[in-house]
Amino acid sequence: MGKKHKPTKSEWAEIRGSLVHGQGMFATKDIPEETSIIEYLGERIDKEESNRRGHALFDESQSTGGAQVYLFTLDDDWDLDGNFDWNTARLVNHSCEPNCEAQIDEDLRIWLVALRDISQGDELSFNYGFDLEDYQKHPCRCGSDKCVGYIVGEDYWPKLRKKLKKKKAKAEKKAAKQREKLRALSASE
Ligand SMILES: C[S@@+](CC[C@H](N)C(=O)[O-])C[C@H]1O[C@@H](n2cnc3c(N)ncnc32)[C@H](O)[C@@H]1O
Ligand SMILES: [Zn+2]
Repeated sequence: MGKKHKPTKSEWAEIRGSLVHGQGMFATKDIPEETSIIEYLGERIDKEESNRRGHALFDESQSTGGAQVYLFTLDDDWDLDGNFDWNTARLVNHSCEPNCEAQIDEDLRIWLVALRDISQGDELSFNYGFDLEDYQKHPCRCGSDKCVGYIVGEDYWPKLRKKLKKKKAKAEKKAAKQREKLRALSASE
């Protein structure tokens, strides 16, 4: 886990510029379903240390605007911090219709595994599983037909959709009021 760690490589994929965001990981050949594509490496830390790093990342995100969350839950005792530049898998972007998922094996190692057959050239993605807190800060540009607009775990989609519906209704009401005001104004002139 030293500074001289070489960036991890995969025989299935490489880093390229992504239309979704910054850099992403792309299939360099056809990848069959269930292939373990690359290990998500990092430092195994206990919950106390994880909370400390999580809070530090949160504070940083408040000032920089970008939350780079690389903390994974491994089990009740351990988390994994993947925030190291040699952890190439950290560059895989989120999608609301992902072609991969992060799976934890019996040795508590995290692998990015293909959820379906992936074609050469396709961008790899998984669902980051963020909760609803501060969802507005994480707009999603995955481009999928199923995109819910924000980087949020699928479990939270029903709640998110309700929130967005309410927000839209409120904005429409405000716009209608505004139009009514303008109409009244121009009628009185
Ligand atoms: C773990 S990094 C992924 C690598 C990133 N593309 C880069 O070049 O550093 C996570 C960050 O990428 C961006 N990102 C990932 N998936 C995204 C998506 N579907 N839509 C918009 N931004 C995304 C967000 O800024 C997120 O905080
Ligand atoms: Zn999306």
